[in-house]
Amino acid sequence: MPSQEYTGMAKKLYIETYGCQMNVSDTEVVFSILARHGYVRTESMDEADVIMANTCSVRDNAEQRVKGRIEVFYQQKKARPQVIIGILGCMAERMKEELLEGGKVDIVAGPDAYRSLPGMLEAVRPGSPQMDVVLSRDETYADISPVRLDRGGVSAFISIMRGCNNVCSYCVVPYTRGVERSRDPRSIVREACEVFEQGYKEVTLLGQNVDSYLYTDPDGVQTGFAKLLEMVASVSPLLRVRFTTSNPQDISDEALETMAKFPNICRHIHLPVQSGSNRMLEKMRRRYTREWYLQRVAKIREILPGCGLTTDVIAGFCSETEEDHLETMSLMEEVGFDTAFMFAYSERPGTIAARKYPDDVPAEVKNRRLSEIIELQNRKSLESYRADIGRRFEVLVEGPSKKDPGELCGRASNNKMCVFPQRPASETPLRPGDYAEVEITAATSATLIGHLV
Ligand code: SAH
Ligand code: SF4
Ligand code: F3S
Repeated sequence: MPSQEYTGMAKKLYIETYGCQMNVSDTEVVFSILARHGYVRTESMDEADVIMANTCSVRDNAEQRVKGRIEVFYQQKKARPQVIIGILGCMAERMKEELLEGGKVDIVAGPDAYRSLPGMLEAVRPGSPQMDVVLSRDETYADISPVRLDRGGVSAFISIMRGCNNVCSYCVVPYTRGVERSRDPRSIVREACEVFEQGYKEVTLLGQNVDSYLYTDPDGVQTGFAKLLEMVASVSPLLRVRFTTSNPQDISDEALETMAKFPNICRHIHLPVQSGSNRMLEKMRRRYTREWYLQRVAKIREILPGCGLTTDVIAGFCSETEEDHLETMSLMEEVGFDTAFMFAYSERPGTIAARKYPDDVPAEVKNRRLSEIIELQNRKSLESYRADIGRRFEVLVEGPSKKDPGELCGRASNNKMCVFPQRPASETPLRPGDYAEVEITAATSATLIGHLV
């Protein structure tokens, strides 16, 4: 393990990660930074010298979960007083010194403060905790090669930008992650080459709004998202490229056409709609209408036939009426997403919605609407997955299927999970990272079932 610059006894670092893929990617950056200072990763909290949680603030329940974990970490500290407890990520940024109350937490570090972690760990003493929650305008951790959490894995995350310049009224992310900044494309391509050389076969480019990726180099030369996609897709035809999240307002025809040109850019777009009602979209400060959204979907399907489409939906946003809710249902019916992440609105302190609009949809109404949305989506998912019966897909093998270790699983380009039997014993078995041609013979609402051709 790492420790090139450090000669002392290795200290053991345990990190739990909550929230989005961006946080998974950031945890890899933290391991990388701390590896250079003599910390090695452990997956057992019981033997850790440092226990950290990389946290999420997007909904209240995400924060409640971490508050519960702090109590569990504190039990470790009671048994072994030298243990250091750190809270990283979005909750650290949102709650700041509030997390230090009660003396259970020693370190509070926001998403742009990870380079100062070694110094903070050095400086921390009983009764004198350390906090750094300064947000940056330019930090992208571009020069740090993340320590991949799944060594020998198939699929790697690469952050291409940080922060968010939108102000969706319900959303805490701009406050916890700061302003949008794009990472130097050369460092992104270098990282893609690195992981490909290490045996990875897929990269997912991460940003809150990838379509607004824009890097200006010191000579004033600009690189936008379509160009970046082309650069990463050109690393190797055997390296699949995915990305998330696309914003309906900003997704460009140019990016869709670049996808069409490169078969290794996966046919899948995650396009969060949030609501099907124009009145709600305006109040949410999403900068598109229902009509615009449907027109973007039509364009995606025209340029990229068979492209997978998934979304996020919020039920019960401020003042949402039954009519608004039915418009969300009718949009979901019309589009027929493959999958959706569906949430009941959770008011976040400090956001525009929290300051301006009462959270006035009663909990039982929110939950009833959410159940209706989920039920509708389950039906649409089943339709979408069944529509693939009889089709053939190139699947990137990830490993044994969770339900039946005798079978393999992996994703088709459209992001649907496929399960299929291994090759017969007389042939070389397929391994994680191999591509396989699979014909689909059956489907559930979340899995395609098939066999090798
Ligand atoms: N940048 C992405 C979203 C990141 S947050 C985008 O613009 O689409 C992921 C999802 O969490 C959002 O799409 C939204 O559906 C949900 N979400 C965000 N804030 C929320 C809140 N206050 N209550 C409920 N769901 C929320
Ligand atoms: Fe939040 Fe909107 Fe930014 Fe997405 S685009 S992170 S929903 S503010
Ligand atoms: Fe959560 Fe922060 Fe991601 S609030 S969703 S971890 S950007």
